[in-house]
Formats: sequence, C-alpha cells, structure tokens
Amino acid sequence: MKKKKYNTLWLSFLGVTAIPVLAIFIITMVVARNEFYEMRAIYGPNFIPATRESILMILIFVAGLILVANSLWMIWMKGMVIKPLRDIEAAAKRIAKGDLEFTIVTQRTDEIGELCRDFEEMRRQLKASQDARIYTEQQQKMFISNICHDLKTPITSIQGYVEGIMDGVATTPEMHSKYLKTIHNKANEMNLLINELTMYNKLDMDHVPYDFKEVNLKKYIDDCAEDLEDELATRGVNFGYRYNCADDVTVKVDPVQFSKVIHNLIGNSVKYMDKEDKRIDLRVKDYGNSVMLEIEDNGMGISEKDLPRICDRFYRGDSSRGKTKGSGIGLSIVKKIVGDHGGQISATSKVGLGTTMHVILKKSAGGKNG
Ligand SMILES: Nc1ncnc2c1ncn2[C@@H]1O[C@H](COP(=O)(O)OP(=O)(O)O)[C@@H](O)[C@H]1O
Ligand SMILES: [Mg+2]
Repeated sequence: MKKKKYNTLWLSFLGVTAIPVLAIFIITMVVARNEFYEMRAIYGPNFIPATRESILMILIFVAGLILVANSLWMIWMKGMVIKPLRDIEAAAKRIAKGDLEFTIVTQRTDEIGELCRDFEEMRRQLKASQDARIYTEQQQKMFISNICHDLKTPITSIQGYVEGIMDGVATTPEMHSKYLKTIHNKANEMNLLINELTMYNKLDMDHVPYDFKEVNLKKYIDDCAEDLEDELATRGVNFGYRYNCADDVTVKVDPVQFSKVIHNLIGNSVKYMDKEDKRIDLRVKDYGNSVMLEIEDNGMGISEKDLPRICDRFYRGDSSRGKTKGSGIGLSIVKKIVGDHGGQISATSKVGLGTTMHVILKKSAGGKNG
C-alpha cells in the first residue's frame, strides 16, 4: 500500500496564517459588537456605526501582513531547512541502494550544516569500509589464483618427470637420479607453500600457542646469526652481523616463533636479491627501552608505492609479481608474530639499492638499558 505523503510545510503555513487571521477577525467582531450595543444605548436605536469600514480595512491589512510575513518565512524555510533535508533524504536513498559515489557539501555552521557534515562523515566511513572490503576481496581472488598457479606449476612438473621415468625417457642412472631430485625439490616447494598457508591460517585465527620465555638477546641472536652464516654462505651471500647492545639485555620472546621472523626477513632478502655481489647484514641496536633488529640487503629494493603495503596479507610488490613465486603472506605472518610480541615492524628501501627491515622489541622489565 502506498503511503500518503503530507506536506507538513503547507499545513503549518495554513495553520500559522489562517488561525491568527480568524482569531483577529473573531476578537475584532466581538469588540465591535459590544461597542455597537454600547453606542446604541447612548445614541438610540438609529445609531449607525461609522467604524465598520475601518474595522474591515484593519482586518484586511493585518491579514495581508500575516500572509506576507508567513510567505517570506515559508520561502526561507524551504531554502534553508526543507531543501537540505530533501537533499539528505535523497542521499540516504542512494546509500540504501549501495551508491556511495557522491559528496554532501555545505558551508553552513548551524544545526543543518552540522547534520550535513555528520551525514557526509557517515557516507565517507561507509565508502572507506566498502573500498576496504572490495580491496580484500580482490586480494583474496588474486591470492587464490596465485596459490593455484604456484601449486599447479610444481604438480605439472612432477607429473612430467614421473611420466618421463615411466615411459623410460630417463635411460641412464644419472638421468634417473636427476629426475628424482627435481621431483623431490618440486614436492618440497609445494610443502613449503602449504606450510606457509597453514601457519598464516593458524596465526590469523589466533591458534598459535606462544611459549614466551625470558631470553638473553645476545645469546639468542648470536645463535641465529651462526645458523644464518652457514646457510647464506652456501647461497653465495656475504653475511655481516653486528651486535651493538649490552650483553645482559633480555627480551621476552617465543624463541621458535620469533626465529620465523628472522628467517622470513632473511628469506625475502635472498629471494629479492638481484646483484652479483650479494650482501645481507643483521644488526642489533639499542633503542632506549627497546632494541632494534635491522636486516639490510643490497637487493632490488621496494618502490615507494609498494612500501606501505608490503606487510598487508596477500600483497606482492609490482616487481615481484610474475618474476618470483610467492603468496604475499610472508610479511603478514612476520607482522602478526612481531605484533603478538608487543613489537613493531617497518621498512626503508631504495629501488635498485636495497631494503632494510626494522623490528623493534621491548626489553624485559628486568633487562638493562645497555
Ligand atoms: N627484502 C626485500 N627486497 C625487495 N622486496 C621485498 C623484500 N621483502 C619484501 N619485499 C616485497 O614485499 C612483498 C611482500 O613480501 P612477502 O609478504 O614476504 O610475500 P612474498 O615474498 O610471498 O611475495 C614481496 O612481494 C616483495 O615485493
Ligand atoms: Mg616472502
């Protein structure tokens, strides 16, 4: 059933115009009538009042005055109140249909202006969350397509090599062993990717049980650096390590989970290395009540456009897409683990020169400031 729409402005206009005119008319009539009888009592029954026309004139004048004043008031109301309210009503209808591509602009400083600004703020926030949702959906679609591609590539490869063995293409024991090695590597690649996905899922759902311990920072990082030195040497990377903090500083970390942070960051430095003379440095600095871990590489670097978003889940830099394999979740895992340790992560980079990742961790309350 269609709702009947009453125009309240017209009704109120009629009210504020007709009621005073009627009231003045009645009062004037009553007063004039009383006066008429009083005059008749004095001057006799043949008395004819001379004031009738002037009363009528006054009445018409007052009614005209009220009409003009109310008309002006109504024009003002229409422009100043009704129109902005109609605009807001139209805007609300557009929002209800999911259209947020407009702006409500006002220079007014009164209540209506405030209402318009509040409405515009609401629209802006809705638009921001709509954009964020669309962005996440796009990233997820891209992520699924990346994962499908990254899983399909090794599977196709494994299939090819297995068929090669079955069809007797690998005729010599060397070829046989080479084929099996490739199958093994490809299976490992898939395993790594699946592990990364599982880890991400667990972290995202807060299903990782942290086992926080007070650890001596120097000993912990020294051990990590020792492992890294050997690992990086086999990849032809010059690894430098500097510890610039007091020897007795302690931090509260889950040693197993936190090592994933260091390995992930070093892993990226290796992955995005494009120089012949490969260099990665690990530094630990004193940072007041915190310590700062820095991992610097001389790799391809990150563009200014990508830099603020590299820790977003599924985000991959323009230069990495297509050239290197990856899911874009490594740094979001790192960010989550660092955040769960009460720390912060940031990056500085220059395209072509290299990248430095900074991780800030609070010293333990009992730890010294160095
Ligand atoms: N050390 C680095 N040098 C250059 N680019 C990097 C480095 N670390 C991260 N990036 C950029 O950040 C993006 C996100 O990294 P990450 O979350 O580890 O995902 P993935 O390595 O799977 O692409 C990468 O795609 C890459 O563009
Ligand atoms: Mg990575």
